[in-house]
Amino acid sequence: MLQIPFMNLISQYEKIKPEIFQAINNVLDSANFIMGPEVTLFEQEFAAFCGARHCIGVSNGTDALLLALDALDVGSGDLVLTVPNTFIATTEAITRLGAQPVFVDINPETFVINPDSLELTVQKLRSINAPVKAIIAVHLYGHPCDMEAVKQIAQRYELRVVEDAAQAHGAEYKGKRTGTLGDVACFSFYPGKNLGAYGDAGAVVTNDQQIADKVAMLRNHGRIKKYEHLMEGYNCRLDTLQAAILRVKLNHLDEWTRQRIANANQYSTTLAELPSIVIPLVTPGARHVYHLYVIRVANRPVLIEYLQRAGVSTGIHYPLPLHLQPAYRHLGYREGDFPAVEKASREILSLPLDAEITASQINYVCQTIKQSLSEIKAAPGEIKDA
Ligand SMILES: Cc1ncc(COP(=O)(O)O)c(C=O)c1O
Repeated sequence: MLQIPFMNLISQYEKIKPEIFQAINNVLDSANFIMGPEVTLFEQEFAAFCGARHCIGVSNGTDALLLALDALDVGSGDLVLTVPNTFIATTEAITRLGAQPVFVDINPETFVINPDSLELTVQKLRSINAPVKAIIAVHLYGHPCDMEAVKQIAQRYELRVVEDAAQAHGAEYKGKRTGTLGDVACFSFYPGKNLGAYGDAGAVVTNDQQIADKVAMLRNHGRIKKYEHLMEGYNCRLDTLQAAILRVKLNHLDEWTRQRIANANQYSTTLAELPSIVIPLVTPGARHVYHLYVIRVANRPVLIEYLQRAGVSTGIHYPLPLHLQPAYRHLGYREGDFPAVEKASREILSLPLDAEITASQINYVCQTIKQSLSEIKAAPGEIKDA
């Protein structure tokens, strides 16, 4: 039986193995394991990739968020708005600074922040003089948020905007890339991301010199130079070996992203015929980079099992929204608070996708879905009235 993995990191590695070996060898030969030229060069190259002025390499995407919020002076008692359908790292960074996340609902078609819900929430909080400080706009699955609307709200209420671009390397909104769409952006290079290291890694990207300087200081113990510290910081540096690996992979990223998009389009063309499947929507002016290819389907458990039996791996990103997680019980949210997020969490299904998956593998997944749907009777109407 065919086995279709959710993503195939090994097949990608096989194609770039000699380049990776060379890059690792160069670092080993230099014995320059902390910071050094590889980190600086990667920072310059990734900033250029984003079209931004500054990139500061850091230890991972979670720390990127922590440092970015810290650089914006988010601290004890502040409120930071974001969505509940994200990985918990988004909100962990808020809490670690003594601030508190406040959730808002999503656009059910794109899965990203709903500006109307955002504005209503900010209005309510401001009317009681609550200390709202910032918005984290999560470009989930690789689809950019409606940044014009988010920024208008931010301007009206004097809020800072952080992009959580962990899933959106190279995504674009109206011709501009993630990394340039808010005050500051945070990237993860977790191995499975569109640009993935061979371990943990991340970056903060910004056009703002002050933010860049503060993040650069914070990631390295708040130091200005050796043994001179302007403030207490963290040990959140980007590992030099990872920087060298990322430089190799960054050279391929545009090509891999084009292939990802072509693969996603192949899925969409075939699956669009199926009435009980909702394919991902791409809003005008958006470049979706498909970190994940996420459909909506009724009777999801039956389809998952059918696919599994046919050797196709799938995922759910994410099955339990953050406002209903035990970790956030103390925030007092209840089921029903965010209907679009909750409905999505019951229906979303991520299909195998990366730059390596072949046309015939995608075809196999689509044909298996078709067969499955002809065998199960999808609950009519459940999906369409999202
Ligand atoms: C949306 C989002 N934010 C933040 C992170 C955190 O990144 P990392 O795993 O590199 O800490 C991730 C990925 O894991 C993510 O998907």
